[in-house]
Amino acid sequence: MSKTSTNTTIRNLLVTGGAGFIGSNFVHYWCDNYPDDKVVVLDALTYAGNLNNLADLQGRENFRFIKGDIRDRILIDNLLVTENINTIAHFAAESHVDRSILAPDAFIQTNVIGTFTLLEAFRHHKQDSSQKLFLHVSTDEVYGSLAPEDPAFTETTPYAPNSPYSASKAGSDHLVRAYYHTYNLPTIITNCSNNYGSYHFPEKLIPLMCINILLGKPLPVYGDGQNIRDWLYVIDHCRALDTVIHKGKPGETYNIGGNNEVKNIDLVKMLCQLMDELAPNLPVSPASELITFVKDRPGHDKRYAINASKIREELGWTPSVTVAEGLRQTVIWYLHNRDWWEPLLSEEYQAYYRQVYQ
Ligand code: NAD
Ligand code: DAU
Repeated sequence: MSKTSTNTTIRNLLVTGGAGFIGSNFVHYWCDNYPDDKVVVLDALTYAGNLNNLADLQGRENFRFIKGDIRDRILIDNLLVTENINTIAHFAAESHVDRSILAPDAFIQTNVIGTFTLLEAFRHHKQDSSQKLFLHVSTDEVYGSLAPEDPAFTETTPYAPNSPYSASKAGSDHLVRAYYHTYNLPTIITNCSNNYGSYHFPEKLIPLMCINILLGKPLPVYGDGQNIRDWLYVIDHCRALDTVIHKGKPGETYNIGGNNEVKNIDLVKMLCQLMDELAPNLPVSPASELITFVKDRPGHDKRYAINASKIREELGWTPSVTVAEGLRQTVIWYLHNRDWWEPLLSEEYQAYYRQVYQ
């Protein structure tokens, strides 16, 4: 694939959380589109990190994986110097709302303390390259919950996080902003809506539904299923981050969204229909017979919606994949990659599952 930008300066990127869902998609995207850039992945390989997500890149020139924690200041100081890093793309986080309700500690540790540690290290990292950039990958959940008639979130919507996860991401966003204003560190924040696609860990709505349909297990829909999310295909998110890295303005925030608001129950029904069409010999057919309404998530945000006009008008990015096409690709990926997801349904995962869906 050819480069998607006219900017041809070599970047040495540190990608934190590059073995997770979005991070690994981003690493593949970057290695395909910018083969001359160096990509160093730093990932602690928590339950959500998976080296199989990067298996095909191992041994490739300009790619390196390091197992480590973003709170490890000595490790990060060393990496920044030895790899001559000029750009940090920061994805590493505890990312699942339900886990943050069960056990918030790790969310404060990684999302707040970890981001702080990276910022401090990067602030002291001598790097006069004009490429110096700290890209902080954040979420629309920091803006809280919308009522049905509210306008979509813009970059100036006040923060109102409702879960320990979103509160910890909000805290990290505030630190990143402060490092720009106080220390002139070139930082950019992106706040993105719900992603979906390949390498998505089974605990999240879309992979969970795909896998449960294939296993003939109940499809647990929280509450009345009327909550709304704004879905974005993960590759479109990667394209948006590419645009922001090459064209974004330090100190700015960019909202990224798919313009695809869907009620949870409608999304689950779409997945059932796709599986009915694409999967041979489903254990339960039609798959919609498996839909089960279960107790609601505490503090469940009603609706998220992103107004992405700033990134569209200022940087020229728009999503390219419709939800119908993206969901079809995703269902096909889960159908063909049983070897990827089956080992993730470990005893530890089953214990988590029982706790949430008891
Ligand atoms: P994920 O949970 O799939 O991956 C997180 C990765 O971070 C894992 O590989 C994990 O091992 C690693 N990690 C966790 N703690 C670490 C630590 N202390 N040190 C080093 N590595 C650590 O998450 P994701 O869904 O890919 O999300 C990536 C980022 O994007 C997160 O910051 C998240 O808040 C943000 N985001 C996610 C979505 C979404 O829909 N998934 C939407 C908007 C923003
Ligand atoms: O909006 C961006 C956020 O999207 C990211 O910041 C988070 O990291 C990411 O996990 C995601 O958060 P959500 O809580 O929206 O995603 P999740 O897949 O957990 O749930 C999507 C919706 O589906 C939500 O309204 C809860 C509901 N749900 C979820 C699960 C796991 C169910 O009804 N049943 C389920 O079993």
